[in-house]
Amino acid sequence: MAETVKVPVDGVAVTAIGVAVIRARESQREDRLYDDPQAKEFVAAARAGFAPERWARMEALADQFYEGRTIGVRLVDDRFRQAIAAGCRQIVLLGAGLDTRAYRMDLPEDIHVFEIDLPELFDFKEPVLAAAGAAPTCHRHVVVADLREDWRKALLASGFQPSVPTYWVDEGSLGYLNQDWNQRVVRTLTELSAPGSHFGAGRMVVDPDAPQYRELRTFVAGHSAPTPIPAERPDDFDVERWLDEIGWDTEFHSWNDLTAHLPRPAGTLDPRIGTIAAVRR
Ligand SMILES: C[S@@+](CC[C@H](N)C(=O)[O-])C[C@H]1O[C@@H](n2cnc3c(N)ncnc32)[C@H](O)[C@@H]1O
Repeated sequence: MAETVKVPVDGVAVTAIGVAVIRARESQREDRLYDDPQAKEFVAAARAGFAPERWARMEALADQFYEGRTIGVRLVDDRFRQAIAAGCRQIVLLGAGLDTRAYRMDLPEDIHVFEIDLPELFDFKEPVLAAAGAAPTCHRHVVVADLREDWRKALLASGFQPSVPTYWVDEGSLGYLNQDWNQRVVRTLTELSAPGSHFGAGRMVVDPDAPQYRELRTFVAGHSAPTPIPAERPDDFDVERWLDEIGWDTEFHSWNDLTAHLPRPAGTLDPRIGTIAAVRR
């Protein structure tokens, strides 16, 4: 099977494989923070499509990001459960990658999970899931769309109901909300959000010029020139205020507070780093 699957070896979809490497590694640990049995299937199928030295670079990158990223997966698992408990019946993954929460979290049958991502991602993901005989516990909708284009139409066509409270998940796809296209995505999802919908926006303080981010951009580019660091809004762009203006009540939770209950030390970070939890008015 692995030979016949088209593996995205470069371009932005390759980043999803890196996260699957991280989730596969976490799932093997005795003290795992979550269990993602499909991750190892994605990793095995992907490795078969990579030149060995490129795969070694991928693993080295996954190593560098492992600690923080794997804890981040667990934090989103926690927010999934909270959003469902709060009444959200639809969940939209913006840039779903190789996420398998529709399979692994024992979500109730009346939950609808919409996975939005690029065609090359699903060309790889769907055959691997099918070969593994995986079955979701809830309704799962594959939405092939580019978030920079008219993804609203594709989402509505796949059965999304704007009148139903929704949890919108951005887990490493939008980056920071200081770029125009990210803000367009958030404006669109705001229009599609019934009162009581949830959204979480990351607030990070990273240096995009740090070595691991440089290597990530070069790796993703493959044979093309790496994408330049996007022009950013000034540091004083106030995401919380902007979300409030467009219709969300927000509450900031620092990484240090969010991770305090976990059984694994998550490191103490700059207290400005964390998640802006937003609920639609
Ligand atoms: C770092 S991965 C994260 C995937 C997933 N959220 C996770 O945590 O495993 C980023 C994902 O966003 C997707 N993505 C990036 N830009 C996109 C766009 N313009 N439209 C749709 N998906 C996009 C990529 O294909 C990739 O699957």
